[in-house]
Amino acid sequence: MLLSETEAYDFLMSVVSNAPLGILTYTLDGNISMCNQLASMHLQLNQSPETLVERPLTDYISHLPNLHSVVSDSVNKSRQAFAIPELSFENGTYIAVNGRKLANGMIVTTHDITPIKTMQQANVTAMLRGQEKERHRLSKEIHDGIGPLMSTIKLNIDSIKNDLKDDIEKNTMLKFNAIQDLIKDASEDIRSISHALMPSALRDFGLRSTLENLIQKINQSETVKVSFYFSGSEDRLNMYTEIAVYRMAKELINNALKYANAKQIVVQLIRFEHMIQLSVEDDGKGCSQPILESMITSGIGLQNIYTRTEALKGTFIIDSSEGNGFSGTIEIPTE
Ligand SMILES: Nc1ncnc2c1ncn2[C@@H]1O[C@H](COP(=O)(O)OP(=O)(O)OP(=O)(O)O)[C@@H](O)[C@H]1O
Ligand SMILES: [Mg+2]
Repeated sequence: MLLSETEAYDFLMSVVSNAPLGILTYTLDGNISMCNQLASMHLQLNQSPETLVERPLTDYISHLPNLHSVVSDSVNKSRQAFAIPELSFENGTYIAVNGRKLANGMIVTTHDITPIKTMQQANVTAMLRGQEKERHRLSKEIHDGIGPLMSTIKLNIDSIKNDLKDDIEKNTMLKFNAIQDLIKDASEDIRSISHALMPSALRDFGLRSTLENLIQKINQSETVKVSFYFSGSEDRLNMYTEIAVYRMAKELINNALKYANAKQIVVQLIRFEHMIQLSVEDDGKGCSQPILESMITSGIGLQNIYTRTEALKGTFIIDSSEGNGFSGTIEIPTE
């Protein structure tokens, strides 16, 4: 049985309206020719599909600059296929958008990937929490197990040395002193490994004073001057947020010390009512935007910061240009 043109159109419209994806088509001059409820909802076009037909798509997507630019390009230049793997919206949804060429325009499909994103974030959060728990366990084991053992060895060696006769051979005495120094070095190493795994100061005194301490130590030994500013409430945060912010601050400060060749590093920690903001800014050599993109994938430090902030539903923004320093700003919701 052959369908009439109207029947074929009605059939097509009913398929489009009931499709499990958002579907929107636009003509060669950029006017919407078809749109279903899901597409309008996913892209937050705030219009019923019928009112959108024959209107320019770009008029309705100015709140989505990425999509706006690819749609404008697809109208003005060749109709290139496009894919935006992830558009994030203020209401917490994530939408994937794909554009394909049609004979007389383009078809855009939208797909709600919020459940997948939420699951990914939950996985990363669980992994990071597991990692922190294990670090805590190891730190405790080293601190409470090997730490006291080293102290006992040191006490015994000291006491043997006291018992030695004054006429002991000079060579033996030198060996003894060397052993004492080695034990002292080993004890200090063990202590700093245990602290790096889980800074006990963080648990006992919180983020502000642990960062202050870290910066004070850097200022004692490095030539660069690090300043620290804090404002807002000193109420303790969730332990995992405190650890994450501390580790991210350490990474950014470390990077500035390693690469920036800076004279000054400014670390700011600001507690807002529902958010904590950390920024680390240096006046070093910085880097240009294109180089920045490749840098982000060259090491794992900055990538880890992206993963951690994403898992905590926060944001991480890098601002840098050649010769103008480097700044990293992290914002994490605290509720
Ligand atoms: N403050 C900075 N000033 C200039 N360049 C920087 C700065 N911070 C990072 N970079 C550049 O960005 C790159 C990536 O940094 P990232 O922390 O991700 O990796 P990394 O420090 O090289 O290695 P790691 O995995 O040990 O952190 C660095 O190699 C460096 O070239
Ligand atoms: Mg690094």
